[in-house]
Amino acid sequence: MKAQLTLHKEFAIGETDKRIYGSFIEHLGRAVYNGIYEPGHPRADDKGFRKDVIKLVQEMGVPVVRYPGGNFVSGYNWEDGIGPAEKRPMQLDLAWHTKESNKIGLNEFAEWCRLADTELMYAVNLGTRGADAARNIVEYANFPKGSYWSDLRISHGVKEPHNIKLWCLGNEMDGPWQICHRNATEYGRAALEAAKVMKWTDSSIELVACGSSNADMPTFGDWETEVLNHLYDHVEYVSLHQYFNNSDNDTPRFLASSLIMDSFIKTVAGICDLVKAKKRSKKIVNLSFDEWNVWFHSHRQDQKIERWIEARPILEDIYTMEDALVVGCILITLLKNADRVKIACLAQLVNVIAPIMTEPGGTAWRQTIFYPFMHASAFGRGTVLHCPVTCDKYSANDIDDVPYLESVAVHNEEKNELTIFAVNRNLGEALDLEAGLYGFEGYRFIEHISMSNADLKAVNSAQGEVVQPVTLPPGKQDAGQRLEARLPTASWNVLRLKK
Ligand code: AHR
Repeated sequence: MKAQLTLHKEFAIGETDKRIYGSFIEHLGRAVYNGIYEPGHPRADDKGFRKDVIKLVQEMGVPVVRYPGGNFVSGYNWEDGIGPAEKRPMQLDLAWHTKESNKIGLNEFAEWCRLADTELMYAVNLGTRGADAARNIVEYANFPKGSYWSDLRISHGVKEPHNIKLWCLGNEMDGPWQICHRNATEYGRAALEAAKVMKWTDSSIELVACGSSNADMPTFGDWETEVLNHLYDHVEYVSLHQYFNNSDNDTPRFLASSLIMDSFIKTVAGICDLVKAKKRSKKIVNLSFDEWNVWFHSHRQDQKIERWIEARPILEDIYTMEDALVVGCILITLLKNADRVKIACLAQLVNVIAPIMTEPGGTAWRQTIFYPFMHASAFGRGTVLHCPVTCDKYSANDIDDVPYLESVAVHNEEKNELTIFAVNRNLGEALDLEAGLYGFEGYRFIEHISMSNADLKAVNSAQGEVVQPVTLPPGKQDAGQRLEARLPTASWNVLRLKK
């Protein structure tokens, strides 16, 4: 099968915001306890943080991490996680039917973020709590000194403020499963009052309003419109969440998931602009796709896991080669929408629907989905280019016109690098790609990284990484304006050019 791609240096979609390579750590399962934090582990530091996990997070390149939830946050009292560790209460977490010891709270997690070279994005509780708790945590975290909450932080040994820039106004408040779920008007009002006092406490912060929990929610569309009617002038972003699955074992349809994501993004951007027009506003509200991933492998086994124990090993999906292809297509989709998506979080980071897994007392290892994310974060920063593609398309169940080639290019002018990311969705054939380059004189094809496996259900494990990228010889390139590459059957590819 053949495909053509055209790139022109001047045909730009927009600049990438590095925060699209964000992730998420929730107090859920073994993400925090027995994940990033395992005192007594041979590779733990003096605070109990696993250095091997931090190393993998750095290798992945994760500039921002959302915390502490997720559904967890809607029942969380942030004050339980500050002050002397031995005095912190053991609480029941009603979201995940777990016991929460509160050994890790804001200060410890902020310290972990510093060690992992990442920025903290904090979600406040707008379920059981409201504006008062929200303004207090902004004061505790960000106010320098000389007020009740800032001085309390200092008395806890944290002299410098954390200066958390990004704050989420609750989590998935449209979902009936949420602790203290609200309708759009109730949420819009409550979030508005929280937003006001949070920004009055620290005017430098940025806020994310809760959008829909997924594009299939019955309230999708109406929810965003109503919420933004209240919040438009007070927030910088609206959130989107979406998880994909192959429960029906329909791989062509599964690989087309990113088309659903693309349409979700474009619709939410349209709603933001509708409210902008209604308000005669000049301000643009952008998008924070702050939960996305593949999630379905663990659903059945999680039913059997005992409740009300600490760090119950739930949501431990083991990812296949085909999951990595979907993750690759999603990363390409986020890039293609770089003009509106400024933040995105792969949910989650460690042990819970995660690219990084840990064995208690043992090793930390990379799932299949680790690799496309790592490549995108490493090489996908700069100017995203429009990439018109000519190739065959297929129909997959309810989705028509699925191109066999999913592709985007990013030009990093500072580094003189041009990278083409490409997924071959064809399950039976390699794809011969021909790319026409315009305005890239002097750029040479230096590397073709590719990941594929004859078995689409192949997985990695603590025993070994069966699915890993390999370097293929770069394809042909004539006087610089045309290059060729063969993309293996069902593969993720990174084509790198450099001047
Ligand atoms: O990431 C797992 C859960 O998915 C989060 O807690 C919630 O926000 C979403 O429903």
